[in-house]
Amino acid sequence: MISRITTFAFEGVEARPIDVQVQLSGGANAFNIVGLPDKAVGESRERVRAAFSALGLSLPPERTLVNLAPADLPKEGSHYDLAIALAILAAIGAIPRDSLEGVAAIGELALDGGLAQTAGALPAAMAAESLEMALVCPSTCGAEAAWSGGTVLASPNLITLVNHFNGTRPLMPARAGALAEAPAAPDLRDVKGQEGAKRALEIAAAGGHNLLMIGPPGSGKSMLAQRLPGLLPPLSARELLEVSQIHSIAGLLERGQLSRTRPFRAPHHSASMPAMVGGGIKARPGEVSMAHHGVLFLDELPEFTAQVLDSLRQPLENGEAVISRANRHVRYPSRIQLIAAANPCKCGGGPGAFQCRKGPACQANYFSRISGPFLDRIDLFVDVAQVTATDLSLPPPSEGTAEAAARVAKARELQTKRYGDSDARRRAVNADTPGPEIEGVCRLDANAKALVTQAAEQMALTARGFYRVLKVARTIADLDGAATVARVHAAEALTYRFRPAMPARVGSGIVA
Ligand SMILES: Nc1ncnc2c1ncn2[C@@H]1O[C@H](COP(=O)(O)OP(=O)(O)OP(=O)(O)O)[C@@H](O)[C@H]1O
Ligand SMILES: [Mg+2]
Ligand SMILES: [Zn+2]
Repeated sequence: MISRITTFAFEGVEARPIDVQVQLSGGANAFNIVGLPDKAVGESRERVRAAFSALGLSLPPERTLVNLAPADLPKEGSHYDLAIALAILAAIGAIPRDSLEGVAAIGELALDGGLAQTAGALPAAMAAESLEMALVCPSTCGAEAAWSGGTVLASPNLITLVNHFNGTRPLMPARAGALAEAPAAPDLRDVKGQEGAKRALEIAAAGGHNLLMIGPPGSGKSMLAQRLPGLLPPLSARELLEVSQIHSIAGLLERGQLSRTRPFRAPHHSASMPAMVGGGIKARPGEVSMAHHGVLFLDELPEFTAQVLDSLRQPLENGEAVISRANRHVRYPSRIQLIAAANPCKCGGGPGAFQCRKGPACQANYFSRISGPFLDRIDLFVDVAQVTATDLSLPPPSEGTAEAAARVAKARELQTKRYGDSDARRRAVNADTPGPEIEGVCRLDANAKALVTQAAEQMALTARGFYRVLKVARTIADLDGAATVARVHAAEALTYRFRPAMPARVGSGIVA
């Protein structure tokens, strides 16, 4: 007789069903797990043995064979413990054999029979729900897993589950946790002066555009970037689940609380490639995926290694990070908005103490660390000049985050109408629109068309550069509530591309 239960193997955010089969047969007392288990799964035997003895049970005297099917899919992690333990309990008759029908389980066992928090409860619960199965998981994962909308049985330990399946003390299904309170975000009103940079930040927020701010130390670049999340609308219900699944796999969902605030990730410039795009022993998601549907902020952009920056090119273009393993690829979504900041050169490039005394070569050198193709993925370039003493002595500006966020929300509403909800994954904002398609939605009037055509020739814009100007112009018109893109909108969009003050190499990177 074989007893069985379902569990899941994680491949990216996808939870693939695994059939756990347990067979007891005569012969020598042995306990084997087959089906490509990694070391952590192999060690499951010891944890199951210990948890059973904590329950006052011993493992069956027969040969116990655990098969994890399909056998050719590698099984990684410690979350197989619970499914293996439950299947053995059914095999020895400690719980009714048919009680595990339509049940999936994940969870790591402690030696005392307790169930420890496990990463990936949300994607597992969503997969169980789509298979019309109930999910059994540790109680610390219940609030998170219940967001799937399926039946979730969350238990602190193995004995509670034995009582549940025997019908002596049935468990109540877990309820979804509360949404996390939005953290108090800093206000745009704190930033004095910098009207140009604030305008660029608002455009970036409205159309989901990638932005690079260049300015001397202490001009407020980091300050501005930290105020971007406050301008962005909250995650939609669909986005919330997508983002939370990634955070669940990374073990980042605290107390099962999901948050509708868009992710804002600011990795340090010493970040390694696996930290940035994902990888490592369990192919964990990287920063670019943790920032899915949110913002990836790269402060001091030229200080990142060229290799790390280039590894971001593909996720930036396709909205997906692909991690290569020995025999397969693991994919995580990574639809992000990139915000970057840089000093004009290594010395700082500002007036006073940070003035560059090495000449233009210093600037060119600093920016040459960033490849042209990387810079080509940036929609808006903006100069953030040193704030003057006059600026700082001004009273706080009358407009802050609330006013700008309201304009952004209106512009985003127009985009939602334009792109519809059906294909929202690819086209939620202007920045996501595939190049040639933007021409159809851009609706330039004759004057704007003449200006863009002329500028494209003079600036020798590439096809990608040309489309980026159109996308930014479309966003500026959306902020204006205009159905067609007029000359003023196109003209402003062009100012964010052509930057005579930029180091020569960067200038050519944008234009080329
Ligand atoms: N425009 C501004 N209005 C008000 N305060 C400012 C402004 N710019 C800078 N500051 C003050 O200076 C501090 C440093 O600013 P911030 O860290 O944003 O500069 P930065 O441009 O990122 O500099 P760095 O290039 O050194 O990273 C801020 O915490 C703030 O107190
Ligand atoms: Mg800074
Ligand atoms: Zn310099």
